[in-house]
Amino acid sequence: MDQETVDKLYKKYNVTKDKILHMRQVAKLSLIIAEMVNLKVDKQLLAAAALLHDLGTAYYRGGDYKDDFDSYWGHHLKTRDFLIKEGYSKIADVASKHNSFGLTVAESKKWGYKKGVSLVPDSDEARILAFADGFRKEFIKKKDCTKVQSKDSASLFKKYGMLKAAEERKKKLFNYLVKHKMDYEALLKLITS
Ligand SMILES: [Fe+2]
Ligand SMILES: [Fe+2]
Repeated sequence: MDQETVDKLYKKYNVTKDKILHMRQVAKLSLIIAEMVNLKVDKQLLAAAALLHDLGTAYYRGGDYKDDFDSYWGHHLKTRDFLIKEGYSKIADVASKHNSFGLTVAESKKWGYKKGVSLVPDSDEARILAFADGFRKEFIKKKDCTKVQSKDSASLFKKYGMLKAAEERKKKLFNYLVKHKMDYEALLKLITS
């Protein structure tokens, strides 16, 4: 996908400057990780998904939430729906799975999504994107990036009975990337310097 198309989508879906900056940073970090790991990664797909992963955020802010599910997971689904509508279903699949804690079909039903949906990163592109999105200075306390960091999110996850499972999934994802030669210390230096 070219830059012009990405910019058109930002405009059409009212993406804020802050979010654009965030998505560019995540795309940069994703590609750095993709270079480190010994996995076969579709870099074009990864870059496009990273640049668009929060496309649905403009429709999630403002406190006008249907429920907890809507407020936490809503923008993942909006991103997916928008990209499918635009004809980019492959990118939609990776982009919408950008949360490293993931959400299984059973959990999504508990969060009020009747049909059930899986937002668990299940491809190497999605795993890298999900790790990169959560790998932010403000999220890394005591160098442990596998915990649910904010108190609000932790209590929400607890309420839906998925705190332990979510952290285990993230740990698994993290270990998988490290096993495939992701250099965590080098990344830490990169974001904290
Ligand atoms: Fe997001
Ligand atoms: Fe994000």
